[in-house]
Amino acid sequence: MIKLAGIDIGNDSVKLVVSGSNEPIIIPSIVSPGYERHILQEEDAPLKALDVMVYSPKLHKKSQRYFVGLLASEDQDNAELEETDNKATSDQALIVALTALAYASVTNVAQGLQPGETVDQVEYVIGTGLPVRTYARYHQTFEERLVGEHEVTFLSTPKLRGRTVRVNIRRAIVSIEGAAALFHMATHENLQVRDEELYYGCIGICEMGALTTDFPVVKRMSIDNQFSTGEQLGLASYLDSIIRDVEDQFGYRFPSRTKLTQRIRRGEFIIQRVGEGQADIRPIVDIYFGRAAQKIVDLIRKRWKKYPDIQCFYVLGGGAAALKSYILESAENMRLRFVDDSELQNVYGYLKLARNKTTQSEPV
Ligand SMILES: Nc1ncnc2c1ncn2[C@@H]1O[C@H](COP(=O)(O)OP(=O)(O)OP(=O)(O)O)[C@@H](O)[C@H]1O
Ligand SMILES: [Mg+2]
Repeated sequence: MIKLAGIDIGNDSVKLVVSGSNEPIIIPSIVSPGYERHILQEEDAPLKALDVMVYSPKLHKKSQRYFVGLLASEDQDNAELEETDNKATSDQALIVALTALAYASVTNVAQGLQPGETVDQVEYVIGTGLPVRTYARYHQTFEERLVGEHEVTFLSTPKLRGRTVRVNIRRAIVSIEGAAALFHMATHENLQVRDEELYYGCIGICEMGALTTDFPVVKRMSIDNQFSTGEQLGLASYLDSIIRDVEDQFGYRFPSRTKLTQRIRRGEFIIQRVGEGQADIRPIVDIYFGRAAQKIVDLIRKRWKKYPDIQCFYVLGGGAAALKSYILESAENMRLRFVDDSELQNVYGYLKLARNKTTQSEPV
């Protein structure tokens, strides 16, 4: 059976929704070299210990072992994506994406194997996306990298040990970050119009991710070629500055951005220093998030001035969730709109757009 899925291959995290299951799967986009690890106590969930062998003809190293997501976030040799990385061509992005698709198929799609079967097979049609400024040049490359047969074997992952999943991506429908989010907000699950203002209006979007911020302008659900743009700037550089300042001031090093944002999300700003001392990192977070918010507000103001036809501006992405209170403070009398779960709007949009495309042509 072919499954339809939306996958947002983010620089900070990969988000995946499989049609028929509403619960998104979120895996931090972080990878480290895998090895035989000493397990004193097995983790209580597979997502906490994704230890995988990934085979894909599209990767430079065609078959290699990796720790992915949370398991890699504590590792000294981990790699998070950097400004110079392009998710359309990055091996790391593909490794996390394939791991997510394989994981979803053994948890959501097919529970358990038939007797005598050793390999799970899954076929997908996926919707995904690229930043505004990468789309034109790279959407074809991205599609070609995703489509095909790949294989993921779970090694020391609890509950999935030794399972191999053959992931066959039959088709990948690539859309534009931010614009997909708007499509999701404007439509119902059955793709009927939900919000006429959004569907028929001229809407500005500021979608702030980890490494890029996209500013698509969408008019009657068509992307405006002239005014849509993007910045090579996201929350990650501010998080890196926070990590550096915290280390300089308190001698405490966060092993990854993921570890820092986990704390910020929980509102835990007190860190335990070596020895008995504690320190409050809130003032450092406030400084950088305040700066990031000011920058975003300036960019939005500039765009809106250039194109006054824009009726309203949505601020989306994980950056919007992180910076909302700071942005509202900087925005003064400029009215900006926010939504809940803003970092998930794209992935739901990708799923809908994929469904839209496949029902228009041949049925899946
Ligand atoms: N509620 C929150 N509080 C604090 N930080 C958050 C929150 N939600 C998301 N973030 C952070 O915001 C940043 C952007 O998240 P997002 O999921 O939009 O990035 P991404 O889509 O993976 O990146 P990109 O769009 O650049 O590919 C990340 O660093 C993430 O950890
Ligand atoms: Mg994103």
